[in-house]
Amino acid sequence: MAKIIIEGGHRLEGTVRVSGAKNAVLPILAASLLAESGLSQIEDVPDLLDVTHMADTVAALGAYVEKRHGSVRISANTVNSIEPPAQLVRRMRASFVVAGPLLSRFGEAKIALPGGCNIGQRPVDLHIKGFEAMGATTKIENGYVYFRAPRNGLQGARIYLDIPSVGATQNIMMAAALANGQTTIENAAKEPENVDLANYLNKMGARVRGAGTDVIRIDGVSSLSGVSHTVIPDRIEAGTFLIAGAIMGKGVYVDNAVSQHLMSLIAKLEEAGVQIDDEVSGIRVYPALNWRMKGLDLKTHYHPAYPTDLQAVMMAGLATCEGTSAITESVFENRFMHVPELQRMGAQIQLEGRTALIEGVQKLSGTQVRASDLRAGAALVIAGLMAEGETEITGLNHIDRGYDNLVGKFKRLGAKIRRLEIDEEEAEVISERMSS
Ligand code: EPZ
Repeated sequence: MAKIIIEGGHRLEGTVRVSGAKNAVLPILAASLLAESGLSQIEDVPDLLDVTHMADTVAALGAYVEKRHGSVRISANTVNSIEPPAQLVRRMRASFVVAGPLLSRFGEAKIALPGGCNIGQRPVDLHIKGFEAMGATTKIENGYVYFRAPRNGLQGARIYLDIPSVGATQNIMMAAALANGQTTIENAAKEPENVDLANYLNKMGARVRGAGTDVIRIDGVSSLSGVSHTVIPDRIEAGTFLIAGAIMGKGVYVDNAVSQHLMSLIAKLEEAGVQIDDEVSGIRVYPALNWRMKGLDLKTHYHPAYPTDLQAVMMAGLATCEGTSAITESVFENRFMHVPELQRMGAQIQLEGRTALIEGVQKLSGTQVRASDLRAGAALVIAGLMAEGETEITGLNHIDRGYDNLVGKFKRLGAKIRRLEIDEEEAEVISERMSS
């Protein structure tokens, strides 16, 4: 086990470079399964637990996978299974997007149903609806779902998504890539990560149009081949550093950040009195007056609205806002687990249904806290940077899933932050102290 220790109150300055996007590289690794020939070389791959899990899933299906620092090479012409290992799928729900490629290329797929997680139920009904619209039959038993395409393959269909689900849009896009005829996805998710997936698919020989808009059209082709592709930068990691720079920085430069992917965050930071300069290859952020953001109201929603993945981090930054703020979480039903931990650091937050009301305080105080999910972990790091005194953060497995070397990047910006391995005994003591 490990813990992060932060001595709060140290200003941040300098440059941090954003890694490749976790939520783009995961579906792209799944899409590589569609190639019956050729080699895919994926570049700017972040070093994350989730990426390792997806690479292991693709390899377990029989593909040749070679992971090097920052890149992955995949040859999928040796794929010989339609059933990824259940323990890998259950450990990371994003693995469910291997269903589309397997069903499209091999006519069947058998996938363990991903459970919910801390932030919500996370059903996959829209994925199933899409596949069935394309003629697939579905059988759910013993915690698995078994998809089977018609004898002559999946048929293009017109699919309306009741919710612009990121994962369902990805899965259906990939299933349609080798289907017969044209598939239309209406009310599609518009996230930049889905555009990056569509770009990779088109380089492989697919015919995907309209990614990034409400309507995506896919004309099925007969085969696809591996190609080289560089993943887009991680806008959620970039946003995390912009928020940190807003409340602790002295002109932090977030290199490799793409402002077009972060328009809603930039708008909210400027509303909070933060100056943002969009520069040639990144974004510079100047702190709010006295490093305290003006209180604001914020509602997370589907892209291009404010991203749910930056809700916890923004809440930490607004804990010392001037006045009050209100954050409404519209995407997931249970994404406020960071609130009790922030309250233990002195934040004044009151929950009313899906809205958190924040009364800005003068300062936070360091203490022992535990990350409950990926983005909550990042929020606790931000809170630790702001707090007076020392903050100890455990539950780092969550942070390691989604942030590539977060401690090292903050250390290079001047934070007094370090990561320590702890033995079971100390972990036990911390756990008891926190649950008392
Ligand atoms: C993706 O999850 C991201 N994960 C999440 O990031 C992100 O929070 C989420 O999109 C929303 O932007 C990856 O890309 C790996 P959804 P996904 O399907 O695809 C409901 C992170 O921190 N829904 O867009 O699972 C669902 O319950 C992670 O990096 C259905 O009802 O999200 C949710 O309320 C956390 N039925 C809403 O849609 C379905 O079939 C949005 O979910 C599918 C989804």
